[in-house]
Amino acid sequence: MDVEKRIEELREQVRYHSYRYHVLDNPVISDDAYDALYRELQELEAAHPELLSLDSPTLRVGGEIRDEFTAVEHPSPMLSLSNAFNPEELTAWRDRFMRLLPGDTGEPAYVVEPKIDGLTVVLHYTGGAFTLGATRGDGRRGEDITPNLRTVKALPLRVPVAREGERGLEPPARLVVRGEAYMPIDAFEAFNRQQEAAGKKTYANPRNTAAGSLRVLDSSITASRPLSLLCYQVVDLDGGPALSSQWEALDYLGQLGFPVSDQNRRFTEFEELVAYAVGWEAVRETLNFEADGLVIKIDDFNTQERLGAVGNAPRWAIAYKYPAPEAVTRLQRIVVNVGRTGSLTPAADLEPVRIGGVTVSNATLHNADYIAERDIREGDMVIVKRAGEVIPQVLHPVLELRPPGTRPWQMPAHCPVCGEPVEHPEGEVAYYCVNAACPAQLVRSVEHFVSRGAMDIEGFGIRQAELFVELELLRDMADIYYLAPDQILPLEGFGEKKVSNLMAAIEASKEQSPARLLTALGIQGIGATVAQVLMDHFRSLDALAAASRKDLEQIPGIGPKLAESVADWFAREPNRHIVEKLEAAGVRTEVQETEPVGPQPLDGLTFVITGTLPTMSREQAKAYIEAHGGKVTGSVSSKTDYLLAGERAGSKLAKAEKLDVAVLDEAALQKMVEGA
Ligand code: IVH
Repeated sequence: MDVEKRIEELREQVRYHSYRYHVLDNPVISDDAYDALYRELQELEAAHPELLSLDSPTLRVGGEIRDEFTAVEHPSPMLSLSNAFNPEELTAWRDRFMRLLPGDTGEPAYVVEPKIDGLTVVLHYTGGAFTLGATRGDGRRGEDITPNLRTVKALPLRVPVAREGERGLEPPARLVVRGEAYMPIDAFEAFNRQQEAAGKKTYANPRNTAAGSLRVLDSSITASRPLSLLCYQVVDLDGGPALSSQWEALDYLGQLGFPVSDQNRRFTEFEELVAYAVGWEAVRETLNFEADGLVIKIDDFNTQERLGAVGNAPRWAIAYKYPAPEAVTRLQRIVVNVGRTGSLTPAADLEPVRIGGVTVSNATLHNADYIAERDIREGDMVIVKRAGEVIPQVLHPVLELRPPGTRPWQMPAHCPVCGEPVEHPEGEVAYYCVNAACPAQLVRSVEHFVSRGAMDIEGFGIRQAELFVELELLRDMADIYYLAPDQILPLEGFGEKKVSNLMAAIEASKEQSPARLLTALGIQGIGATVAQVLMDHFRSLDALAAASRKDLEQIPGIGPKLAESVADWFAREPNRHIVEKLEAAGVRTEVQETEPVGPQPLDGLTFVITGTLPTMSREQAKAYIEAHGGKVTGSVSSKTDYLLAGERAGSKLAKAEKLDVAVLDEAALQKMVEGA
């Protein structure tokens, strides 16, 4: 048989069955039968590389690595939405636009869709083939993430997806579709468990994980993440049917083979719509994706056009948002974690509870003052809230349900890990373990040292750090480079393969840039950006170590505080010893050439800081955010992405809540940076 024809046939079948599986969730052949088709296609393509084509379903595995993202201009601005939080605000919206439609008799029809909490993507198809996919970016221009999106199985690489018995739909000459890439909740939870078992970072929520998975330069990382997609807007169409309404557009997208939510509804009566929106709050809990509300759109495109937009929000659509979900559960224990700087932070160990579809067993308690002010006690039933973006937090106890025999909680007087006395500096919220030899601090330091933003040692995470510190295989960070395979092999969970992978990863990390090494040392205030500035200037760790405070202060961007922090660190004997050991182990401490700076986890995000943070000063928080690509401004507006709030946050917090700006605490910020 003609190979070319067979390949085409196989591609069509693989595409179709993958669509049944990933989009319709309704496969018609067994996994084995599918694998057989897929393998035959792969083999034929391998034997006939001249017949390989970019839209082949075998090319979803990723592997293309880019140096940077390039900008993509959107065909029209990617608008965002204004919000309504209750039926009254919905009615006010309707009254507003009805006044702008003089002469219209009666109610327009509406389409209601889930507001999927993922990452907006803009997908371009030429002649039916997927050619370009971009992030939303600033609404005008996004980033080209095509190779990453190709790995998302629900995304059709060619439309229409061929279907038995349904011929006749022609591929449009040009089509641009807007949708939301997301991680299903069950897949997110499984993925987090897998990460944990492998000693890797776990993620705070599905949205951040999805965004982080798509904004990577190595598409094989995206391919390994269980991402999905739902589409909801035809942005541009040439050579297709004349669409006159959103409902028709959704139907057309579905016919072409795009994943479209089965929760979409059309209403002709406003009152029915409102009742549906109110009732849907309970439905969203049952879905396998996160939705922070509904999007309500006027169906008719003509009416949409007449209404236009104010600023970057259309008048013809509105987001109906629900408050962050809460649940009641038992606070089993208040655990105290020791941070890298010795700071003690209380956290809630909860009886597992489902909140908004996600199982929660840990929550933040911020600090000792927070607990005291609310009189939160071990054994209490507590209200836990999970806002989409941030780690869950304990709001307050339910006093009516307080069991007998509970006692007010107090920060322990001794470090829970090393048993040394805890210090509580005058005027500070935080408590510290000041024992430099505290193993908990060493665990955190090692965890930071090996983390992705620092030496990036694959297969080495908090679990390995804890184990090696406990067994005294590590007494300082530099000992990582003196671990021997025969020390690790006998340990539970370490096979030959795992140990040799770990050893190889440790070895490879010796070639990381000196700026990363400096970041990895965890000197207070020295994040990736400052580390780069310092290494650009001094070119070697030795030169930096020899610099005086005065020398350091001469460098643009280095203030007296940072200068002091660096000079103090290198002045300490144990730290000098660490540097010597690193050098002796062959870790690169001299700059050869400047390394390009990759994408940062907070790229494009705008923060406002308010209140007193548990460990960072405002200046440090600002430097920290900027070092990871974010921007810090002075006042909360609709352009603000996050309010970083500490104790005694005042009017900014109120404003953020009013504008529905996500609020996070210091721990959540760190998680976002480390997890994204
Ligand atoms: S319509 C003018 N529909 O929600 C069209 N947006 O600010 C505006 N989103 O990040 C968007 N699900 O990507 C629309 N069914 C849906 C949506 C949706 C999620 C996202 C959108 C944007 C935010 C709105």
